Formats: sequence, structure tokens, C-alpha cells
Amino acid sequence: METKKVLLTEDEMPRQWYNILADIKMNPPLGPDGNPVSPEQLAPVFPMNMIEQEVSPERWFDIPEEVLGVYRIWRPSPLIRALELEKALDTPARIYYKYEGVSPPGSHKPNTAVAQAYYNKEFGIQQLVTETGAGQWGSALAFACAQFGLHCKVFMVRVSFDQKPYRKSMMTAWGAECVPSPSPDTKAGRDILEKDPDTPGSLGIAISEAVESAVSDTSGKTRYSLGSVLNHVILHQTIIGLEAKKQFEKIGEYPDVVIGCAGGGSNFAGLAYPFVYDKINGKEVAIHPVEPAACPTLTKAPFAYDHGDTAGYTPLLPMHSLGHTFVPPPIHAGGLRYHGMAPSVSQLVAEGIIEARAVNQLAAFEAGVLAARTEGIIAAPETNHAIAAVVEEARRAKEEGKQKVILFNWSGHGLIDLGSYDKYFSGELQDYPVGEHEFDETIAILEKYPKPQQLKSR
Ligand SMILES: Cc1ncc(COP(=O)(O)O)c(C=O)c1O
Repeated sequence: METKKVLLTEDEMPRQWYNILADIKMNPPLGPDGNPVSPEQLAPVFPMNMIEQEVSPERWFDIPEEVLGVYRIWRPSPLIRALELEKALDTPARIYYKYEGVSPPGSHKPNTAVAQAYYNKEFGIQQLVTETGAGQWGSALAFACAQFGLHCKVFMVRVSFDQKPYRKSMMTAWGAECVPSPSPDTKAGRDILEKDPDTPGSLGIAISEAVESAVSDTSGKTRYSLGSVLNHVILHQTIIGLEAKKQFEKIGEYPDVVIGCAGGGSNFAGLAYPFVYDKINGKEVAIHPVEPAACPTLTKAPFAYDHGDTAGYTPLLPMHSLGHTFVPPPIHAGGLRYHGMAPSVSQLVAEGIIEARAVNQLAAFEAGVLAARTEGIIAAPETNHAIAAVVEEARRAKEEGKQKVILFNWSGHGLIDLGSYDKYFSGELQDYPVGEHEFDETIAILEKYPKPQQLKSR
């Protein structure tokens, strides 16, 4: 029988995370004065031990024993061969996925949530405040804070709060507080509610609320926590790709194509960066972040300096951005509704080292249903975008008669997202492809910011 599942023992779990900053060139984040942000300027937002990781050029970071201890609940995660999906597609491609839905909250997000809760606790912090799109990140941080005895407050994007009420139940079970965003709790939220009381909200707005809420606590015991985009978040996620490499070594395989869906970029990067390292060092491998056509950050938006949040509280980040006031259409992949993208992912796209793809919502669900009926796992709507790109790649392999090895990140299960599957089955879902000029207004604001330099990493 062909191998279905490749497992690692707990002892084989990687003991270090990989930091891509050692291997690529990046423009620095800029502060309000237009100069590179100093660690001191970030200190009210993040604890210093996280800021050090954010800016460090060290290639490897030891994973603390306490973090490994919590990872052991679900890690190492399995590498699974999608044999039944391959059969259904009648493709010569061999398709593998890292299954991150085995974590208690059901996605890749706790890989960084656990690390962030640990480092904040070490620094003497008692409460973390964050935002969440689909609710995966909020529930991951709620879970992680419960593990380390921290209080947790989550601003959840309104449209997802209404679509996925059980995410709030999960957060409450882990002892966290969850409010819909925009909320009356912050100035950023009140300002937006005044202008548009029926807004579906966005990740950009929720980030503004969470940052404001964290920095306005004068006790010094509260910090903000972000579930994607930043370097330290991606660093923690590289455990996924590092495990995958070890698993491939066990079976004598190496991927020709690596795919992950991309909202802020962390699950894609977590799987892909250890392979990007190989590519920078001469290996041939195609690497694709996949985004929704309703939020075409990498495929249509410019590489520019922009704020990470709607109110403009964060430093200016060098990234592909639709503009920080862009409110993405209410697709059900809430975790992919972000106007920007991780600066490192943006840099790699700008340099042509990786190549982005965009997928419409209906095609994503069609692929997700095929995967559920063949592989058995019902995927998160975000993951469905990656699956759609995998299906396309596998069909191309068939047309070309090529035995490609495809690896993707099955970033989460969809068991709390079944409402969106119901809507898909009853024909209520629609596509919202965003055209070239639909964000002209929101990117016009970026004209007043400095332009990132064109850098070459290799
Ligand atoms: C299941 C799942 N996959 C992917 C993503 C995309 O996030 P990121 O690109 O930041 O990894 C999310 C975000 O919430 C998610 O919940």
C-alpha cells in the first residue's frame, strides 16, 4: 500500500525556528517622522523580547521548552498524501498537505499564539489584546493565553462575528472576552460607526481598535498581539515547513510546487520559507501564495509603504497594499480579508522569487467540497483557496503529463464555518472579483508616503 501519512515523533520535532530576514533584503518599517522605527517606539505595543525577534537578522531561534511543551499537544502535525484527491483528478501529480487543523483551535494560528503568550508572560505582561477575522486567530490566542494564565480581549470583525457565532463560544470557553468590531469601546471604532453604522468591519479596523485598546491601558501590563504579517509571527510559523522538510526526507521526496493561502501571509510563509531558503540557495521549486480575487493584494495592488491598520496607528510597512481604508467584500474566508500583506512575502513577490495567484470564492468552495468528499476533511474557507490552486496545478500536470510533487498547507478545518458551506450549497454565495480600478481611491492616499526601494536579495 502507498504511504498515506508521514509522521514525526515528538523527539523529531524541530527545536529551532527559521528567520528569513537572514536571507533577504527588506525596506525598514517607518515611523510618523518618516525615519525607520526604533525598538523603543514599538515598546508600548509589543514586549521587548518580541521586538528583538521582529528585527533580528539571526537565521535560527531556539524554541523555548515551555513552548515546545504546549506544541506537543498537537505537534508534529501530519504530512498527508491526498491519494483520493489525486485519483478523483486522475492526475500524475503526487499531492501532499501539512494538516494544521489538528491544533485545539483548529488552525495553524496557535504556532505563534503560544510563542507570543509565552514571551509576553516572560516579560511580565498580564493581558493581551488582539483582533480576529474569521475567529481562528482570536480563538488561538484565547487558547494560548489560557495555557499561560493571561487575560485576553479580542475584537472580532463584525461580518465574521455574525457569520461564525461559535468562535466567540470557543474564546469564552478559554476565558477570553470577544466583542464585535467596530465597537463603541475605542475611538477608532466609534469614529467608523458614526460614519457607517452598518459596516461589515475589516481586519484593518479591528487592528486599530486592538492597538488603541492595548496602548491606552496605563498599567503597563497590557500589550497588543498580531496573528500574521509581522516577521516574528512568520518566524514562529516556520515550524510547519521545517517539519514538512523532515517528513519529505523520510520518504525521499521533495516538492516541485509549494502552495499556501495568504491573508496576512503567515500560514503560507510558515510552510514555504524553509523551501524559499532552498530556492535562494539554488534549488528549483515553484512557490505560490494564493489570495482571494475579492482582495487581490499581491496580484493587483502596488508595492508601497502603507499602514497595517485603518486608523493609521501602526508604522508604515513596505508591502503590497490595496490601501488601509479599503474594506474588502464580505467573502466567507474572513481570514483572507486584509488590505495588506506581510512585508517579507511582498518583497519575495516583488523580486519574482515567489509568484502569487488569485482565486474566486465559488471556485474555492467547489475545490473544498471535492477535497472533503475525497480526503474526508472539511477545510476552512481560507484553506479552500489553496486547494483550488492545487487542483489547477494537478490538472495542469495531467495536461503536461508531468509527475509533479505538490505540497500545500491545509491551514485549518472548517467545522466552525459550516454556515458558509450551507450558503454555498443553497446558491447564496457569489464572487466579488475586484477590478483594476476599484481601489484607485484607497491607493491614492499612499502617494503621500515614501516609496520602498527596489532591493535584490539574490
Ligand atoms: C484557517 C486559516 N487559514 C489561513 C488564514 C490566513 O491567514 P495568514 O495568511 O495570516 O496565515 C487564516 C486567517 O485567519 C485562517 O484562519
